[in-house]
Amino acid sequence: MSKLTLDRILQTQGFGTRKWCRSLIEDGEVAVGGETVTDYRASFETDGLAFAVFGEEWLYREHVYLALNKPANYECSRKPSHHPGVLTLLPEQFTWRDVQPVGRLDHDTTGLLLMSDDGAFIHAQSSPKRHVPKLYVATTDAPVTDALVEQLLAGVQLHDEPAPLAASSCRRVEQHSIEIVLEQGKYHQVKRMLAAAGNHCLALRRTAIGKLTLDMLDLDVGEWCYLDKPELELLAPE
Ligand code: URA
Repeated sequence: MSKLTLDRILQTQGFGTRKWCRSLIEDGEVAVGGETVTDYRASFETDGLAFAVFGEEWLYREHVYLALNKPANYECSRKPSHHPGVLTLLPEQFTWRDVQPVGRLDHDTTGLLLMSDDGAFIHAQSSPKRHVPKLYVATTDAPVTDALVEQLLAGVQLHDEPAPLAASSCRRVEQHSIEIVLEQGKYHQVKRMLAAAGNHCLALRRTAIGKLTLDMLDLDVGEWCYLDKPELELLAPE
């Protein structure tokens, strides 16, 4: 439990500098419990606090955990160069809060992307030691054969890796579509594994991380949602 002044609350939630937050409050743009509050020194218990800024409702969150259904042609890097960054798909408050993608998807990869401003969570989720399985569906140039599935399960050698990398599970979905589960997150790993096995990835979509699936979140392409405790629990390794 902690009590904070309203200007500090708005600042922690990404509404801008302390000075800007104070002016929002003094201008009557902020309400708590349905009542406009114009004294920025008024303090509130942050746990479960609901407030509104410019009439839009927000819930105080110490950290935010988000899922985005990433569209193609958005970059995950901090300084995007050829395409807009994924942060442009989120409310501006999240950029102020320093929300970052958890790991990266290529600019042309679509699907489930986690984002957060909790450094410990980002670190834990990205750690290779955790072995969180990630499910990808790839559209392939050449038909998916039994031999391709067997090779990916047995492991393929990528030129800058010390040892072969294997899918933890893999199955043909359709003639040109394959599901691949990876527990590592090497650079362009799915595309490079498919290339090393003699095929070519035409399109890639991540559909699950741990037991959290994109389907259960019901997000249109480009939409995001908060992840709360029940969803976060699904991200834990087995
Ligand atoms: N593997 C890839 O090749 N690209 C991604 O974006 C994710 C996994």
